[in-house]
Amino acid sequence: MADAPHDLTDLATEIAREAGALARRRRTEGVSLAATKSSLADIVTEADREVEELIRARLAAARPGDGFFGEESGAASGSASGVTWVVDPIDGTVNYASGIPAYCVSIAAVTGPVDPDAWEVQAAAVYAPALDELFEASRGGGAWTGGERMRVSAPGGAGALIGTGFGYDPATHEGDLATVRAVMPLARDLRRMGAAALDLAFVAAGRLDAYFERGLQPWDFAAGSLLVTEAGGRFSRMEHDRPRKMTVAGGSAIHDELTKIIAGGD
Ligand code: IPD
Repeated sequence: MADAPHDLTDLATEIAREAGALARRRRTEGVSLAATKSSLADIVTEADREVEELIRARLAAARPGDGFFGEESGAASGSASGVTWVVDPIDGTVNYASGIPAYCVSIAAVTGPVDPDAWEVQAAAVYAPALDELFEASRGGGAWTGGERMRVSAPGGAGALIGTGFGYDPATHEGDLATVRAVMPLARDLRRMGAAALDLAFVAAGRLDAYFERGLQPWDFAAGSLLVTEAGGRFSRMEHDRPRKMTVAGGSAIHDELTKIIAGGD
């Protein structure tokens, strides 16, 4: 029998809380840099690796037949059950390393191919340890935080509060800034929080009206995409700039306005 999404969500939330507590503890002990990745600005801390190991071990113990695709582990492992866990142990690593509380653990369970354009997200948990806030969703079961059902917001008369982000590679900054310029007429203001999974959780919670960012990795948005759609919003990845696809999320109207401007805007 197929796994019930809410059972996968229960496991994801339990592990996300434990992993988040470990990240917070390591943060108070001091952060040590382990490596840089795509550019000097793209860092990995020892805690990223340790937290991912903990999540991987807990999932393997609870569900040995599932696959695993984590930010720090690289290629996805095979799945006998049809379920693969897509994990960002610390999303917002630069914030984490800098002592800024906007970082989170992001865990999603997906079925189908391990390809963000083809998989179906079944369960999601995003936990922000420094805020002690948990955001969760199950396919068909809604999106929730603090016992309340989440709903995306619609922008008020002053315009939309829009989150965004920039790639680590300085060569991409001009294009990203051009997009910001193009969407600015829709915005009441912009936020660049530094953790994509948390941006998406905040869209689901109606704190941000919308969010867009080019070049995200699958583990950055796997869980957040389900939070948004289960909160009644739209989530899409635009094709127009491969391989740095554009992620857009928000309520239906602002999502469509953003995608239209971005498609024609740069
Ligand atoms: C990053 C954050 C950041 C976004 C980058 C991501 P990481 O994830 O989500 O907000 O702008 O594109 O890579 O590296 O901290 O896990």
